[in-house]
Amino acid sequence: MKQPRDTFDEIRKIAGQIHPEQVRWRRHLHAHPELSTQEFETTAFLTKQLRTLGARVVPLRKMKTGVIAELTGHCPGPVVAIRSDIDALPICEKSGVPFASKITGRMHACGHDMHMATVLGAVAVLSQMRERFSGTVRFIFQPAEEVPPGGARPMIAEGALKNVKVIFGLHVDPTLATGKISLRDGVTMASVCDFDLIIHGSGGHAARPHTTVDSITCAAEVVDSIQKIVSREIDPILPAAITFGRIEGGTARNVIADRVTLTGTARSLSPELARRLPALIRRTTAGICKARGAKFEMKEIARYPVLSNHARVNRLLASNYEQLFGPGKIETTPVVLGGEDFACYLEKVPGSMFRLGVMNKKIKADKPWHSDRFIADEQALIFGTSLFCAAVVDVLGKDR
Ligand code: NI
Repeated sequence: MKQPRDTFDEIRKIAGQIHPEQVRWRRHLHAHPELSTQEFETTAFLTKQLRTLGARVVPLRKMKTGVIAELTGHCPGPVVAIRSDIDALPICEKSGVPFASKITGRMHACGHDMHMATVLGAVAVLSQMRERFSGTVRFIFQPAEEVPPGGARPMIAEGALKNVKVIFGLHVDPTLATGKISLRDGVTMASVCDFDLIIHGSGGHAARPHTTVDSITCAAEVVDSIQKIVSREIDPILPAAITFGRIEGGTARNVIADRVTLTGTARSLSPELARRLPALIRRTTAGICKARGAKFEMKEIARYPVLSNHARVNRLLASNYEQLFGPGKIETTPVVLGGEDFACYLEKVPGSMFRLGVMNKKIKADKPWHSDRFIADEQALIFGTSLFCAAVVDVLGKDR
């Protein structure tokens, strides 16, 4: 994995040269955020820039947003993929930056604008280094990371992973200083099962409960019992969480509700638990509903596998990052029960998602993800772009 030193010099040099333009792309994207599956202007902007940079834009058959583009080296060879998500959040920006969102109630508060700029930067650098690699680099700009069922599986259906040998992704990290990255081998993020439970009873007068099946008291028992799945049915050394984020039912104080909808999510860090959790939720709900004479439906909204990074790919990233920027800049990514649909790509091909440090207290870039004051340090674009390029040249380089 040792590459000639001048490769790293060249990558750092070009990444520095394109940085001012990269910042302009990022600020344009930041000012024009779009929600999941509605990323039309974002898609048009990316397509235009990709064409200008000399990448080939691959037409999508079904998807209305998102872009796949390719850059080929000096001769044929394998395919390496780099993925960026592109969607923003329904948040009203209060960061105070001069390029803040121009769209009220929409904000790039998870840094996906930074991801897009990092990957566009990689296109810009690699388009000037085609003699350094053979084969194809495929850039996947994926919509709808934030909202299940997510854009990853539809992108895979469009052929995003065709012939892919390895895939790289990143997520900015406002808890990690600019200049650092973090990696973790194996399971890093949780499996996700997003589901709705609809409890059907039969309504009536509040004063005549014996003539009804009260869906609200039944739903309350379901919520309570499901909490005992994690505490009583799962090995306590295995992390899992089941949360209901929304409960809806009923119309008036004196009317017994005939229907309640519970909106929930179940997370875990093991593929085995990921399979078991939905069945345990269904069994518990069925038992309670049977006891109370109610009926129910369980609607599965999305299911993502655990996100598991490949150790071999991490070693390649770490080696390249050290050769680019020296030792002592790599931390270990903490495990979380958060989900990420990049896991769907890693289920199919080897790869890794690294965290890119964007924390810089001097510019107040230290607020958490999804905060309305989220700020990312744009200097980090150089580090992320350089690592993507070095990793691509390492896998596809002709000098190896
Ligand atoms: Ni995100």
